[in-house]
Amino acid sequence: MPDPAGTPRSFDAAPIEVAPALPRPALPGTVIVRASEDEWLDAVAADLVLHAKNCVRTFGDFHLALSGGKTPEPLYRRLMYDPLCRDFPWKRTHLWVVDERRVPMDDDRCNFKMIHETVVAHSDIPKDQVHPIRALEPDADDLYEAELRESLAWREKGHDRLDFVLLGMGSDGHTASLFPRSPALDARGRLVVINDGPAVTPPDRVTMTFDLINAARFVAVLVSGPSKRDTIARVVRHTDPVHDLPILGVRPVGGELRWYLDLAACPT
Ligand code: 6PG
Repeated sequence: MPDPAGTPRSFDAAPIEVAPALPRPALPGTVIVRASEDEWLDAVAADLVLHAKNCVRTFGDFHLALSGGKTPEPLYRRLMYDPLCRDFPWKRTHLWVVDERRVPMDDDRCNFKMIHETVVAHSDIPKDQVHPIRALEPDADDLYEAELRESLAWREKGHDRLDFVLLGMGSDGHTASLFPRSPALDARGRLVVINDGPAVTPPDRVTMTFDLINAARFVAVLVSGPSKRDTIARVVRHTDPVHDLPILGVRPVGGELRWYLDLAACPT
């Protein structure tokens, strides 16, 4: 009720605003949804820094595999300028690339080019801990697999796996360069393979396999924007075979799978 002077009492003035609850699609693993791009980046950056520090404390180093694509670019930039990421242990980090297009390293389609420009060039990561894929080599997959095995062999048995794999997802449901109905989906006992043929969006690719990705300690899947919403709905339905929806093949064995979605990517 207004007071005699006609001004509303303070508790009448501002109705309490309750933020609407965010949707949480029932995806396999844990699901983080954030309303704004900033909050979404904060969430994944915070987890990444935490995991990096924990791994360095436990093992002395941190093996991180990054994807290309548009979605993670702002995250990579944030890692470099956000004060909360300032103590990221780059000096103890081994940086791997999840997948690569078979193009020269100065080609704009090269994932490592983007990762180099956004991360490597601005961090104090030692050169010999940066592991680009030499994608044009005829045996690019064997070379990268050997490099991985050699670097991880320093770890105690059982801990010789990637610590953090950051994945994106295409609207066709591919992740890494594991495309629907492409030969790399069936690779077993391999860590890295060349993926080519009609089912692969050109150019040909070199990609980490499900076996390697699923052995990781932590797998983060970053998805944003309305163009991925229907694909997220398919993942929730879980009725497609992995051959049609490869992201369903990401099922860490003994590790954690966590999705980071913005509101626009969430089915209504
Ligand atoms: C690549 C990636 C690929 C990517 C998806 C999503 O090399 O492009 O590794 O798997 O994560 O295609 O790409 P966007 O983030 O651009 O949508």
